[in-house]
Amino acid sequence: MSGNSFGQAFRVTTFGESHGTAIGAVIDGCPPGLPVETAAIEAELARRATARSRFVSQRREPDRVEILSGVLDSVSTGTPIALLIRNADARSKDYARFRDVFRPGHADFSYQAKYGRRDWRGGGRASARETAARVAAGAIARTLLAAEGIAIRAWLAAVGELEFERGSDLEAGESNPYFCPQPERVQELEDYLQDIWKAGDSIGARVDVEATGVPAGLGEPVFDKLDAAIAQAMMSIPAVKAVAIGDGFEVVRQRGSEHRDAMGPAGFGSNHAGGTLGGISSGQPIRASVAFKPTSSIPQAVDSIDSAGNPATVKVTGRHDPCVGLRAPPIVEAMLALVLADQLLRDRAQNSKPLSRE
Ligand SMILES: Cc1cc2nc3c(=O)[nH]c(=O)nc-3n(C[C@H](O)[C@H](O)[C@H](O)COP(=O)(O)O)c2cc1C
Repeated sequence: MSGNSFGQAFRVTTFGESHGTAIGAVIDGCPPGLPVETAAIEAELARRATARSRFVSQRREPDRVEILSGVLDSVSTGTPIALLIRNADARSKDYARFRDVFRPGHADFSYQAKYGRRDWRGGGRASARETAARVAAGAIARTLLAAEGIAIRAWLAAVGELEFERGSDLEAGESNPYFCPQPERVQELEDYLQDIWKAGDSIGARVDVEATGVPAGLGEPVFDKLDAAIAQAMMSIPAVKAVAIGDGFEVVRQRGSEHRDAMGPAGFGSNHAGGTLGGISSGQPIRASVAFKPTSSIPQAVDSIDSAGNPATVKVTGRHDPCVGLRAPPIVEAMLALVLADQLLRDRAQNSKPLSRE
């Protein structure tokens, strides 16, 4: 199976299945001398974890990370960094009934069609469990970016009809388990989710992300434009159905006189573009929005087929997320960090002054 690696200079490969022994990531290209601490990686994993509220999957994974290589005395050596996260709370028997039946909205059917077999335990490789490996690798990318003054924050921007505004406090979403940037509206959000939950249904969501401190000049013409790399990164997250940069689909209603960001000696007057021009960062904050579909595993029966093509009925009960957006902000942040770390190193390879080796 190919397609498990992302990035060129800061290259991340993930491996593992939801109910296998472990998942993990190998990072090739991380510069030497970067602090790499288990605690910092686990802190990011804890933000993505299950069971942080009653409205997310109750699977309980400790998400301890083992650093197998590429780090000595808590500092990267420049050789591949291998990260391992063991699966501790897999209940494969819950999935035995889906061994020969396809769950609509999941990857069961398409994996079977492509490979002629599939790991039916907990969604196998297609499971969002894989995103823990991305978050672990992303934690290292974030350390690299922080050393350059680049910070990334994502927040829950919408759930169904509810829209949330981010104020000037960029950390407001960190005060609650939903990454809601308006903590005073958490009760409203919980009431809304409770109604969806009681109806045995799920709901879509939008997560917005911003990177600040990004220098002008990141992004490679023409197929590896910064916005193209961000779109690929976000689209590769399970359940993502749309990605927008800057004003996104709002541009359809805008005039050029409104959208183009005027410039002056003090900088840009606005940021409709979302921080990229011609696929290269402009020095403005990078802004993107990511839309997540409502999850398919809900306790309502739905028509399906078995692997022989016979009609079947599927009803999914057990430990599931009724709204992916509640857990997605750390994953979105990690993917943006992987893009920016990769583009930063690629830019340095081509554009830096002659290397000094002191
Ligand atoms: C953090 C996260 C948690 C998820 N949890 C669930 C879940 O509990 N139930 C479910 O049906 N889908 C869940 N998904 C989505 C499925 O993994 C995804 O829809 C499925 O693999 C099919 O892929 P696709 O939607 O990208 O086509 C989750 C996705 C993410 C990012």
